[in-house]
Amino acid sequence: MIKQPLKNLAIIMDGNGRWANRRGLNRTKGHEKGAEIIRDVTTYCAKHPSIETVTFYAFSTENWKRPKLEVEFLMKLLDRYLKDELETYQKNNVQFKAIGNMNAFSTKLQKRILLTEEATKHNKDLIHILALNYGGRAEITDAVNRLIAEGKTVLEESDISSALQTPYSDVDLLIRTSGEERVSNYLLWQMSYAELYFTETLWPDFTNSELDEIISDFEQRTRRFGGLS
Ligand code: FPP
Repeated sequence: MIKQPLKNLAIIMDGNGRWANRRGLNRTKGHEKGAEIIRDVTTYCAKHPSIETVTFYAFSTENWKRPKLEVEFLMKLLDRYLKDELETYQKNNVQFKAIGNMNAFSTKLQKRILLTEEATKHNKDLIHILALNYGGRAEITDAVNRLIAEGKTVLEESDISSALQTPYSDVDLLIRTSGEERVSNYLLWQMSYAELYFTETLWPDFTNSELDEIISDFEQRTRRFGGLS
């Protein structure tokens, strides 16, 4: 049997708060540990022979509803993460890209994001994408509005695909941690034919060996894309 090559991986990292609560810790400790797991998974993906992109859902358009202190903490953690990560991105030949609406972020954070994108833009082993203030419906709506503004009156699917923020139009595999089985407004267009994998593991407990097992499971699935196998 021919193995499916996994090219575009997407991850919904869920369970940071529960991980911290179970240890009697503040929720922020769960996010800190979660950021370390992003680092490990990105390094794994950069070394993987077929993975081209990995897209993490780091902050949704709905996450602004969280307590102000938690939102502020996440913003600071993101800034620190990108600052610390630059050296590793360069070492592992990883390109960083952000998708979502960055306008709502502080000028300092927006600058950090742009600087990291610019500094890593020629790296080729992996594109590491963080979805930040991201929502799938907003992404599709923005894409369509941009095409209308360019004068298009009738759209092909390929027009929309290429107007999206992601450098790919199809996610191959979505992983969501913590036992929740939802797609939560994530990469809606790109996920049309994605294989879905839900694990009970909380994101801060997620390991590269579990990722290895999930990828082996994916590689053995038969993907028919609406046709016959
Ligand atoms: C869900 O856990 C996770 C998030 C809100 C986003 C993921 C954020 C991180 C991994 C940390 C920061 C990211 C970067 C890039 C530095 P939850 O809080 O919803 O967990 P719960 O469902 O158990 O409450």
